[in-house]
Amino acid sequence: MKGILLHGGHGTRLRPLTHTGPKQLLPIANKPMSEYCIESMKEAGVKDIVIIIGGIGSQKVKDYYGNGEKFGVNISYIHQDFPRGISHAISLCEDFIGDEKFLVFLGDNIIQKSISVFGMEFEKSNAAASILLCEVDNPNRFGIADIKDGKIKKIVEKPKEPPTNLAVTGIYFLTPVIFDIIKRLKPSWRNELEITDALDMLLNENHIITYNMITDYWKDTGTPEDIIHANKTILENLSADFRGKMESTVSLEGNVSVGNDTLIKNEVKIKGPVIIGKNCEIYGDAIIGPNTSIGNGCIISGGKIKDSIIMDNCEIGKNVNIKNSIISSNSSIKHNNTQDEQIFLLGEGTKILF
Ligand code: G1P
Repeated sequence: MKGILLHGGHGTRLRPLTHTGPKQLLPIANKPMSEYCIESMKEAGVKDIVIIIGGIGSQKVKDYYGNGEKFGVNISYIHQDFPRGISHAISLCEDFIGDEKFLVFLGDNIIQKSISVFGMEFEKSNAAASILLCEVDNPNRFGIADIKDGKIKKIVEKPKEPPTNLAVTGIYFLTPVIFDIIKRLKPSWRNELEITDALDMLLNENHIITYNMITDYWKDTGTPEDIIHANKTILENLSADFRGKMESTVSLEGNVSVGNDTLIKNEVKIKGPVIIGKNCEIYGDAIIGPNTSIGNGCIISGGKIKDSIIMDNCEIGKNVNIKNSIISSNSSIKHNNTQDEQIFLLGEGTKILF
């Protein structure tokens, strides 16, 4: 089975984090979120993957994934000129797919369990498509499937009055029959060729769409809160791996992973789960964690940081008290006089000097 990874879009709901790059490269537990998708695809036996790029920072995607060799897959790229919808992105891949069954993965969808059983089931079945559904609290935000007697009756995009709370996740097993359907689709109210409309047309034309449920974890990381939640969830399964150096009175609790050449000095407290990258220096009375990721090359000279993501080469000064924050690369928060917890959402290269 071949694979398509969607990596375009403007990430408007995540600005300013997405002013300098695509949202799918934002790190979760120190790894771009789309890398988890590639791992899932590879684990499901998908080795030939085309990445759809477009919008800000497309070159960064190519620089990171290259030809896929480092990730154990073959990667090529197709450029989408404008975010014209998931179905449009899929239509660009007709030649790449040929007459094989294929897997489409949205690069901002995070799951935890393997999908390889679903893939094997689909390979053997005569279904035109197979989708993964997940119960959600906010069904107006997603594609929703209406199901009766174990069969999908209708699929509708972001319904005002959702017939169920079963969201269609961004992981689709498809067959080339979809290409003919997409050619006949009309753009939706948001001027996109919707995947949900294509799936619904398949149903109306008497094709079979099967489904499986994701009963553990699925997140479409559309908002900063979603990203922080995904970071926490991935960190909860982190195993401790200490490769740095620490002085004798550092306090470590829970699972903490620390990269090479990171130095943690006396009096620092780290409450796992926490991941810290390479070449960092952490000192003063810093208290880090829980649920916190710190990238490579950061200097933390005090303060409290919890439930947050700090990307590469950031500097956090003393008396800073941060929670639920995402701080992009090369940013600094020097010093803060307030003891109150604060929430920051900082784009790349931001300097906050109190
Ligand atoms: C897209 C799809 C929607 C699906 C969601 C899953 O929504 O259109 O059907 O439920 O991805 O992540 P969008 O992220 O474009 O709002």
